[in-house]
Amino acid sequence: MTSTPLAIQQLEKNFQQGDRQIQVLKGLSMLANSGEMVAIMGPSGSGKSTLLHVIAGLTPASAGQVKINGEDIAGLSDRRLTAMRRRHIGLIFQAFNLIPTLNVHDNIALPMLADGRQAKHDAIAQLAERLGIGDKLGVYPNQLSGGEQQRVAIARALLPQPALILADEPTGNLDSDNGQALCKLLRDFCSKEQHCIVLVTHEPAVAIWSDRVLVMRDGSFSREINVTKDMTAMDLARAYQEA
Ligand SMILES: Nc1ncnc2c1ncn2[C@@H]1O[C@H](COP(=O)(O)OP(=O)(O)OP(=O)(O)O)[C@@H](O)[C@H]1O
Ligand SMILES: [Mg+2]
Repeated sequence: MTSTPLAIQQLEKNFQQGDRQIQVLKGLSMLANSGEMVAIMGPSGSGKSTLLHVIAGLTPASAGQVKINGEDIAGLSDRRLTAMRRRHIGLIFQAFNLIPTLNVHDNIALPMLADGRQAKHDAIAQLAERLGIGDKLGVYPNQLSGGEQQRVAIARALLPQPALILADEPTGNLDSDNGQALCKLLRDFCSKEQHCIVLVTHEPAVAIWSDRVLVMRDGSFSREINVTKDMTAMDLARAYQEA
């Protein structure tokens, strides 16, 4: 059975800059189902990161609605919002926020423990292995490269098996081999384990792993590109340029 981990409707976000308001999100609507991977592409400044922040409840919408697993997040207290985020959303953002005084294993386990749940060592070891950091569980973040730190943050986001994974340029610090390996892992999470992934990227080689691409221009979705089986990253790049 498919469910809809994410539904947004007529979403708007304004920021105050000095004495004027700037409209960053201008009435966005979208749905994303379980088992689906949706990529968002768009020029720098078009509002992609802002959209993910609003969806995650890290900053409130100015108008419109975000529903996570059918629940409108606007009605939640801070405490319930945090609990909802821990339980249902995996965040893979550019700032990794690893805890420097905890080793890799404990950094990955932390969100589960904070939610009062158990973090099984075997599950952590297996996930770390899939991400190519299986030999790093005992070391501390400052002993890791940027790409390795990013993979720890990814393991931390995936361990609780969230219904919705929000990823902001998750391959940004990875070389192309590791970037593709991560895409494959996210694709597997999505298809086999029925997670829903919304991923922001500039790279057609990353977006090609998704089911569809929403093109964002100046705070609106300007077009949707359906990613077909026979499409290459080059085809997608072309379709994006034309969007
Ligand atoms: N807290 C804030 N206060 C004021 N303006 C903001 C704030 N956050 C973002 N903006 C503005 O909103 C616009 C969209 O920013 P956003 O970070 O969402 O872009 P983006 O599409 O993720 O870009 P990039 O591809 O460079 O990461 C920018 O013009 C930015 O300056
Ligand atoms: Mg951004």
